Amino acid sequence: MPESKTLTIKRPDDWHVHFRDGAMLATVVPYTARQFARAIVMPNLVPPVTTITAANAYRDRIAAAVPEGVAFTPLMTAYLTDETDTDELANGFEQGVFSAVKLYPAGATTNSASGVTDISRVAGVLERMQDIGMPLLVHGEVTDPDVDVFDREAVFIDQVMSQLVADFPALKVVFEHVTTRDAVDFVADQSGPVAATITAHHLVINRTDIFRGGIRPHLYCLPIAKREVHRQALRAAATSGNAKFFLGTDTAPHAISVKETACGCAGIFSAPTALEVYAGVFDEEAALDKLENFASLNGPAFYGLAANTETVTLERAELVVPESVISAEGEAVQPFQAGETLGWRLA
Ligand code: DOR
Ligand code: ZN
Repeated sequence: MPESKTLTIKRPDDWHVHFRDGAMLATVVPYTARQFARAIVMPNLVPPVTTITAANAYRDRIAAAVPEGVAFTPLMTAYLTDETDTDELANGFEQGVFSAVKLYPAGATTNSASGVTDISRVAGVLERMQDIGMPLLVHGEVTDPDVDVFDREAVFIDQVMSQLVADFPALKVVFEHVTTRDAVDFVADQSGPVAATITAHHLVINRTDIFRGGIRPHLYCLPIAKREVHRQALRAAATSGNAKFFLGTDTAPHAISVKETACGCAGIFSAPTALEVYAGVFDEEAALDKLENFASLNGPAFYGLAANTETVTLERAELVVPESVISAEGEAVQPFQAGETLGWRLA
């Protein structure tokens, strides 16, 4: 079969992004808006986004950073805490302000200190969310410092996720940024409304890459990349066409100064070329015909939204990832695969 030179798909959405705030927000939003029609925006600001008022204000700041002439809709999320007011969430969902709720186990990752200390404390909130069809987005890692960092996702399935889906069988749950074969199998096996996002970087790197020739802080994120067998399981799931798996980049910009340091932050900034990286993976897996399902159809179907009607075209052409992007305050951020040449580009 001759290789096709272009691929046209319905415009995709990104179901997991970190935009930050202030000068960083202004710098990174255009990269996501260039490729994606909508994005689920994570609420882990300091302080976290917990109220309708805060989410509306944050949405307006994001909208102000979208370039002229670009159509982009941020979908806002609420940050779940032990003290979350159920009515605030439900009202926000019913008013169309909140699209979902994000569960960070307290201490699991960047700006998660206000997260949930024990899932039993939010049982009432989850009950109500189940009733009204409001999705729960889960950072699926245990926080016990004695659990090996590479095992935290698999242990979370046994200790938390299995019980969660048993206790709330009709709750819409997204297992965010899955990194293990265990998580892929768990999600695929569920008969209820349980789905998963998969990042571009977890499809490309395994844990050995973090240490290739020296320690590479720009490949450090949470959940951390796992062994090659897990990367292969993620690639199989993403390219399978299974509607339970969809695109969520988890693009998470941090200034180079806080990445390249003695105790660097977790997060990979993949927004500048995310769609092109995914396209390269699907091409390598001979599954370009499944990219539209993963990037443009499965996510909206899970969230109960219509797919986008406009299309985007990717072309087989060289694209060099920028070495860095600089914010208005002069902070530099290094994109995923900075300086490397990709084989696909948005036309
Ligand atoms: O690597 C990560 N960075 N993982 C997360 O869960 C949060 C994110 C961030 O906000 O920087
Ligand atoms: Zn994230």
